[in-house]
Amino acid sequence: MPQPFDPITINQMTIPNRFVRSATWEGMATDDGAVTGRLIDLYKQLTEGGLGLIISSHAYVAMAGKATPGQIGIDSDNLLDGLGRLTGAVHAAGGRIAAQLAHAGLFALPDATGGEAPLAPSAVTGFSKTPPRAMASDEIDAVVASFADAAVRAKSAGFDGVQIHAAHGYLLSQFLSPAFNKRSDDYGGTTNNRARIVIEVLAAIRARVGPDYPILIKMNCRDYIENGLELDNFLQVAEMLQENGLDAIEVSGGTLASRKESPSRTGIRTADDEAYFEEAARALKENLRIPIFLVGGIRSYAVAERIISESAADGVSMSRSLIREPDLVNRWKSGDHSPAKCLSDNQCFGPAMAGDGIYCVVDKKGV
Ligand SMILES: Cc1cc2nc3c(=O)[nH]c(=O)nc-3n(C[C@H](O)[C@H](O)[C@H](O)COP(=O)(O)O)c2cc1C
Repeated sequence: MPQPFDPITINQMTIPNRFVRSATWEGMATDDGAVTGRLIDLYKQLTEGGLGLIISSHAYVAMAGKATPGQIGIDSDNLLDGLGRLTGAVHAAGGRIAAQLAHAGLFALPDATGGEAPLAPSAVTGFSKTPPRAMASDEIDAVVASFADAAVRAKSAGFDGVQIHAAHGYLLSQFLSPAFNKRSDDYGGTTNNRARIVIEVLAAIRARVGPDYPILIKMNCRDYIENGLELDNFLQVAEMLQENGLDAIEVSGGTLASRKESPSRTGIRTADDEAYFEEAARALKENLRIPIFLVGGIRSYAVAERIISESAADGVSMSRSLIREPDLVNRWKSGDHSPAKCLSDNQCFGPAMAGDGIYCVVDKKGV
């Protein structure tokens, strides 16, 4: 039976244990998207905390896809120096890091689009303040190329792999979702068509980074919105991605519009509240052979151990618990198996939105 502290291999990369830091926007980059000393210190701390793999915060592959203030950019060679210092710090501390590549689509910051309508598969209303504009096919090609260019930058900056962000209602997730994608061309309608851009992104990245470089994806198992992506579609797309050379999947769910069923659910109090996408991970494990990671509400060692030993997933990812306790994995490794101190109240978003960078508000207050 696999155990949490067993190594696991993703393509050619072996990570020493099955605990992953899920991508977490820190709001600590400069206005131009450059890495800061504060970010480097945070990643060093996370690495020293014993994680098998760190996924960076979502890095925008094009300015029009920037989602949040203080977000890291990977859309320009000018940013390579800072990105290289970040990976250098992680490697010096003995860790592994993958870059999460992202485009926000209709959830882009108004500043990022210069006040123009944000890009989306279709001009759907009700999701964003400024109604989006449906992308022309040359704009789809340009976005695919931006992901591939960003992956090349990630590799040259020393990242050990990349993760395509196709979750949470951002652009690639919008294409996968019937709620956002109303297109009648090759990129809309059937599951194959809605998945086309994601397959193209994967193929374009693979062609540029080579067969050995790990390419992961974070995907929604369900959108939890009306007419959103559902489990059966998710399983179909995941299988298509595996056949097209994907190396690992991180299972998430929910969108920025999913309210209580957002990707970061609140009120996790008992083991039963944890691992809220477990059923989807199990379904993937039954159908796929590549490594599957499960994110969402994992707070206790016992739950992580159960998931991994039952092969419900090959590894577990965490975000909020590591904001409060970057050394959580080492704490568990040392034998202190008490649950993460995270209260799942989502107050950590506040300071980042205010420009101060994420931190655990409860911890800071000394509660
Ligand atoms: C402050 C904050 C920032 C986040 N930023 C990202 C991100 O950049 N990319 C991403 O895929 N998910 C992001 N997430 C979602 C988490 O990675 C994760 O999917 C979710 O919080 C559930 O896991 P958890 O219960 O361990 O926090 C963020 C979550 C939080 C709380």
